[in-house]
Amino acid sequence: MAFTPITEAPSRINRSELAVPGSNTRFLEKAAQSDADAVFLDLEDAVAPSDKDQARKNVIEAINDLDWGSKILSVRINGPSTEYMYRDVVDLMEQAGERLDLIMLPMVDNGKDVYALDMMCTQIEAAKGRKKRVGFEHIIETAQGLMNVNEIAAASPRNESLHFGVADFAASTKARTTQIGGPNPDYVVLTHPDEAGNRDTHWGDMWHYAIVRIVVAARSHGLRPIDGPFGDFSDPEGYRAQANRAAVLGCEGKWAIHPSQIDLANDVFSPSDEDVAQAKEIIVAMEAALKEGKGAVSLNGKLIDIASIKQAEAMVTMSERLKA
Ligand code: GLV
Ligand code: MG
Repeated sequence: MAFTPITEAPSRINRSELAVPGSNTRFLEKAAQSDADAVFLDLEDAVAPSDKDQARKNVIEAINDLDWGSKILSVRINGPSTEYMYRDVVDLMEQAGERLDLIMLPMVDNGKDVYALDMMCTQIEAAKGRKKRVGFEHIIETAQGLMNVNEIAAASPRNESLHFGVADFAASTKARTTQIGGPNPDYVVLTHPDEAGNRDTHWGDMWHYAIVRIVVAARSHGLRPIDGPFGDFSDPEGYRAQANRAAVLGCEGKWAIHPSQIDLANDVFSPSDEDVAQAKEIIVAMEAALKEGKGAVSLNGKLIDIASIKQAEAMVTMSERLKA
């Protein structure tokens, strides 16, 4: 709890977020039946310019006709610097039914981009008498977007989540890599030689700074931080490692750019029974300590204090939400 109250975005389970090209109707049908917590129907980078109009029609039809169960249903529109975005917003907001939960805005650079989208949605909702306010999720994937991430997070009451778009971010910052996410063999620390002259290389996470910044901006505005794509879908262990790093830092979920990544994300972003049991033990121990007038005690040889209760409660709350 902060002295300046934080308004939390609507609470939704967002462990896995499946990306589906709007140009492929078979994939759209399969996505509706998947185990993903969230699905975004893509009008942006997975769709060739010649397919944009058809993809828009497919996506609207899929929202209106398929059974999406309790999934978060989102559409990734084209970005503010394209000539497609206005048509995406107008057609979607005029023709897609109220099952649409969110619009995902890629390539967002600043709060003005969010304002422009908000204004269009507000006008169309009023004109069409839409009852459900559509929410926003933003992909932080440009150098400017990361610089202005706080302003973006604060720019609309519709905001629900911030996502790390690692591929475009790498392009925008001219990072020396062509892969989508994951570690890089050149991003290492070389240890000093030991007595035998041997040196080790320790791999680092070249995305650490960006993701931490996104997590902090998201949390300080009550939004969900979500890690973006991991391109090598034939490397489940690599995906799991990246997802674990994101989870440890506070992310609530990660994209699945292939159906095989859905179960991995659902698993990584569900607190384990062991973690939850430990969290409950902390809460019980601290409640007992507080009754005795103590603010800090030791549990299993480790110090715990009032901050430990908050950490533990976050874990237990997430596990209860998942069970519900
Ligand atoms: C996602 O949009 C990315 O660029 O990684
Ligand atoms: Mg991108």
